[in-house]
Amino acid sequence: MRKIVIAGNWKMNKTPSEAAELATQIAALENNKAEVVICVPYVDIFAAKQAIAGSKVKLGAENVHWEASGAFTGEISAPMLVECGCEYVIIGHSERRQYFGETDETVNKRTKAALNAGLKVILCVGELKEERETGKTEEVVKRQVIEGLKDISAEQMANVVIAYEPVWAIGTGLTATNEQAEEVCAFIRALLKDLYCDCVADSTTIQYGGSMNAKNAADLLAMPNIDGGLIGGASLKPADFGVIIAAGDKA
Ligand code: PGA
Repeated sequence: MRKIVIAGNWKMNKTPSEAAELATQIAALENNKAEVVICVPYVDIFAAKQAIAGSKVKLGAENVHWEASGAFTGEISAPMLVECGCEYVIIGHSERRQYFGETDETVNKRTKAALNAGLKVILCVGELKEERETGKTEEVVKRQVIEGLKDISAEQMANVVIAYEPVWAIGTGLTATNEQAEEVCAFIRALLKDLYCDCVADSTTIQYGGSMNAKNAADLLAMPNIDGGLIGGASLKPADFGVIIAAGDKA
C-alpha cells in the first residue's frame, strides 16, 4: 500500500508568531492514516517545530541548496534543515521554476543533496497552460521527471514523493478535473516503471496539487493513482485543511 501524504505548502506566508498559531491548530486536527506535512518558510521552522511537538504532523521546508555549506549568500543547506527538525523538503515547485530560475538540472542537484542528507523530497512537476493547450503535457512532465530523478537509485526512491501540479491550476481556483489529474499521475507511475521497476512504480506516492480544497479533495484523492495532495491556499485554513486530511484518511 502506498502512503497517502497530505502536505501543506505555506509559500511566503506567516511570520513566526503566526506560524506557531497555525501549526498549533493543524497539530490539533484529527488525523489517522494520512501522513500530514507542513512545509513552511525557513524562518518559521523553529516555531512550527515547537507547535507540532508531540503530534503526528511532520515538518518540511520549501526549498534547499545543493551544497552542504559555503559561500552561497541567502541559501540554506540540507544538513541545516535536518538539524532544525525538517523531515521533508519541496523541490522544483513551479514558482521556483518560473520566478527564480530553477531548472531541471538544479532540481536534480537539490534532490540528490536532500536525499543524501536524509530528507524526504516532494519533487514538483507540471505543465504550463500553453503546454497543455498545445498537447505537450506528457512531454514536459516526462522530461521533468527523468531529469529531476537523474542518478537517483531505486532505494532512494523510497524517500521521494512526486507532486503533479499543473501550473495553470496553482492558486487560480482552476482545479484539474479528476480525470485530467488521474491521467497524468498514471502517466508518471508508468514512467517510474520504465525508469525503475514495478516495485518503485507501485510504492511511490504521487500527489496532485493545484487548487485542491475542502470541496474537491475527496474526489481527487479517490482516483487510483492520486496518493495525496500538495496544498497551498487551503493549507493556511485549518478547518479546510482538516477536511482534506480527513479525505486523505479515507483514500
Ligand atoms: P494552491 O497551491 O493549492 O494554492 O493552488 C498549490 C501549490 O502551489 O503547491
